[in-house]
Amino acid sequence: KKRIVSGVQPTGNLHFGNYLGAIKQWVDNQDKYDNFFFVVDLHAITVPQDPKNLKAGVINAAATYLAAGIDPEKSKVFVQSHVGAHAELTWLLTCATPINWLEKMIQFKEKKTKQGENVGTGLLTYPVLMASDILLYRPDLVPVGEDQRQHLELTRDLARRFNDQFCKRRRKTFKDPQALIVKEGARVMSLTDGTSKMSKSDPVEGSRINLTDSPDVIAKKLRRCKTDMHQGLEWDNPDRPECTNLLTIYQAVTGKTREEVSLEVGDMSWGTFKPLLADATVEHLRPLQARYKDILEDRSYLNKVLRDGAEAADEVASETLGWAKEAMGISSLK
Ligand code: TYM
Repeated sequence: KKRIVSGVQPTGNLHFGNYLGAIKQWVDNQDKYDNFFFVVDLHAITVPQDPKNLKAGVINAAATYLAAGIDPEKSKVFVQSHVGAHAELTWLLTCATPINWLEKMIQFKEKKTKQGENVGTGLLTYPVLMASDILLYRPDLVPVGEDQRQHLELTRDLARRFNDQFCKRRRKTFKDPQALIVKEGARVMSLTDGTSKMSKSDPVEGSRINLTDSPDVIAKKLRRCKTDMHQGLEWDNPDRPECTNLLTIYQAVTGKTREEVSLEVGDMSWGTFKPLLADATVEHLRPLQARYKDILEDRSYLNKVLRDGAEAADEVASETLGWAKEAMGISSLK
């Protein structure tokens, strides 16, 4: 089986972008691959976090993975910081990373503009940590949303550079991973502006649907979300980004094809479509939300899953870390 690795930051609630871009495709392909899914708490602290919220966020994110259908029998589920190799490899790779490769990362530039003087060093080295998360497990594929594409390219560049530099006469330390980006849902847009992506950091709560939003909240957010004055509903009209976005969500929650969706709702008005979309979304999330509640009520089960997951992940990660150290000359006493 091919191996995949991926993770989500435990900051705030996970939303439909995280779900359609990442988690849903992890679940849909779970039997096909050898899976490693982690909650990236070390990435979360690249921007200021309230420690209490972060702690709760890690548990909520892990519970969301399981509730969405990740099965610990089939996938290794763990917390990034529980496997020490992530932080350790990050240092080794940081020393092998040209600083200008990091300075041109789009997400760094965007966040830096927002945070101004207070920008932490971790925000700059963030992609090296992400590269370590990936390279430690020697995966074939990394299922992510469109916004992570550049980080994946950097990961591949770092792997190649490291192998070229340090593995001339030895087996290559790192494997070259490919991004796996879904066709539909790779870039879910904000409910209040169809030209910007749905994001945890958007201050407008109505801009996103969280996976744990109650039916009333989902209905309200969809009732108020941005639409347009056109007749009927259609895909891919560049003047109607909100329309394509809402149809994409409808398609994902109903499991229908684009054509089926067009036939069913193409002639509808917004007033008819919005409640239909709200009902379908609520129905789709119902089992996830029920499981989420159950999982959070049994912390000993969740703790065991995360402990076992970290142990299994550590076996693979420690081996790769050992190779990387050996290649660089940071070796144990032998
Ligand atoms: P994060 O936490 O921002 O997002 C988690 C996943 O959700 C996807 N995503 C979206 N997909 C579609 N539409 C959206 N509006 C949307 N918003 C977010 C992201 O592309 C991502 O797949 N650095 C990563 C986490 C990470 C990681 C890794 C991923 C750390 N190490 C190793 C893969 C492999 C991040 O901040 O994702």
